[in-house]
Amino acid sequence: MPATIRDSGSGISKLVDVDTSQSSTIVILDFGSQYTQLIARRIREFNVFSVVLPCTAPLSEVLALHPKGIVLSGGPSSVYDASAPNADPKVLDCGLPILGICYGLQFITHHLGGRVVPAAAREYGHAEVHVIDQTPLFAGLPATLNVWMSHGDHAEALADGFRVVAQTPNAIAAIADEARRIWAVQFHPEVAHTRQGTDLLRNFAVHICGCTQDWTPEHFIATTVARIRDQVGPTGHAICGLSGGVDSSVAAVLVAKAIGSRLTCIFVNNGVLRKDEFAQVQKTMRDELHLNVVAVDASDRFLSKLAGITDPEQKRKVIGNEFIAVFDDEAKKIFEAEKSSGEEVAWLVQGTLYPDVIESASVHGPSHVIKSHHNVGGLPPDMKLKLIEPLRDLFKDEVRRIGADLQMPDDILQRQPFPGPGLAVRILGEVTPERVAILQEADAICTAEIKRAGLYRKLWQSFAVLLPVKSVGVMGDQRTYAYTCAIRAVDSEDGMTADWAPLPYDLLRTISSRIVSEVRGINRVVYDITSKPPGTIEWE
Ligand code: XMP
Repeated sequence: MPATIRDSGSGISKLVDVDTSQSSTIVILDFGSQYTQLIARRIREFNVFSVVLPCTAPLSEVLALHPKGIVLSGGPSSVYDASAPNADPKVLDCGLPILGICYGLQFITHHLGGRVVPAAAREYGHAEVHVIDQTPLFAGLPATLNVWMSHGDHAEALADGFRVVAQTPNAIAAIADEARRIWAVQFHPEVAHTRQGTDLLRNFAVHICGCTQDWTPEHFIATTVARIRDQVGPTGHAICGLSGGVDSSVAAVLVAKAIGSRLTCIFVNNGVLRKDEFAQVQKTMRDELHLNVVAVDASDRFLSKLAGITDPEQKRKVIGNEFIAVFDDEAKKIFEAEKSSGEEVAWLVQGTLYPDVIESASVHGPSHVIKSHHNVGGLPPDMKLKLIEPLRDLFKDEVRRIGADLQMPDDILQRQPFPGPGLAVRILGEVTPERVAILQEADAICTAEIKRAGLYRKLWQSFAVLLPVKSVGVMGDQRTYAYTCAIRAVDSEDGMTADWAPLPYDLLRTISSRIVSEVRGINRVVYDITSKPPGTIEWE
């Protein structure tokens, strides 16, 4: 039977159903780290089901999921802060194996009678860890590990029963109390920079907790389709906002698998799509995915609302609100049509992914808000439609794997991510029809050349950005005074962190000379060499 967990952080009052019929579950209690969901994703990578709950979840709620083990996540606070996130300390006595990560280690130490103090040297970034004592958590791992550290506090005195099993030159790196079945590490095994991090998590979930590795994409598809069918009921209708990207397409195909033609997809031209995208997406969705699509050209509506706005968050809000307004208008038409045949549209499907959620609001715990992504942040709380977000806990590459299992075409699955607010967050300053047209041309050239060089699928994202900066140039005998275009190309695994991509000089040369000679309004091209963090992928 599915257990129901209240998700109160997103501003959208809804219930998240978690299927507890999985044979093995690891529960992760979130103390607010940006990386919490990465822990779940790493565990799912080796096919063990895992779910994140807020650290404040009552123990009864945690145990209702019948977990085989519990992970206590990292978090930005100090255990001594008055506002420090707290879990029920009884979780430490529940008898299940426990793995604390970073703040989790400090939480364990603090609550079991040890002492945590501010570290003399804060550690942030790469560190070398030496395993100094045998414990099942490190079974099969090398004696020296390259890890990612991020902490200001450290354990000065351990709780009774614990011993140090790994250390860095400056601090304790891991502790263990095998009798109590509690382990904790000061570093982050879930981030890609910790090379053997997945092996360590596998040691915990599979070898220590005894989880079976049977959680697969087919399993996800089967349980999700069954759940949607259940939620929507035998006569319910849903509408879905298509963007043409991977997320909304996979979400729509999943829902269509559950309720067939009772799903109507709405594809809105918000005026800030890429060149020719409005026509191309309609064709793919209808001809290849056989979805029921209503296409709405609302570009004038969006562009007139965007006039005069330069603030990035304001742009997102305007687009988000307008999107909902257009949706409501279209939904009403579909609703009226269904009503006349005695049925009702009550559901809205969205392809929200975990990174959209974590960077928009605090979902499951006290994580920090960074950016409001329109597809989550803009939704009014009194929304008339109920939400279905089948991909809400997943990362992009997991969604691609699900799409492949659903036999969706590769050119949709391998499409680079494109933000909901589209080119609006790549046009710095005011979004005008002229500037949209300029960026569409530059972006089309950038994408065509990246594809021609065979790099499109290797890169996480590659695109052009229009800057509000004009500079002097010379073309033929003419002096020019026109805009600057920045090219952005990044490598990333999940969009949470990213490195700028070292594109070949020849490719950059071709992109630059084509843009300057073919796009009226741009006379200078620069290349962005900023990684995330400290930059973001998009410029706004
Ligand atoms: P940032 O710029 O935050 O982007 O490093 C991380 C990933 O999210 C995408 N992105 C968005 N997606 N609505 C979206 O649907 C948004 O408002 C938004 N802003 C950024 C971005 O393209 C990248 O893949």
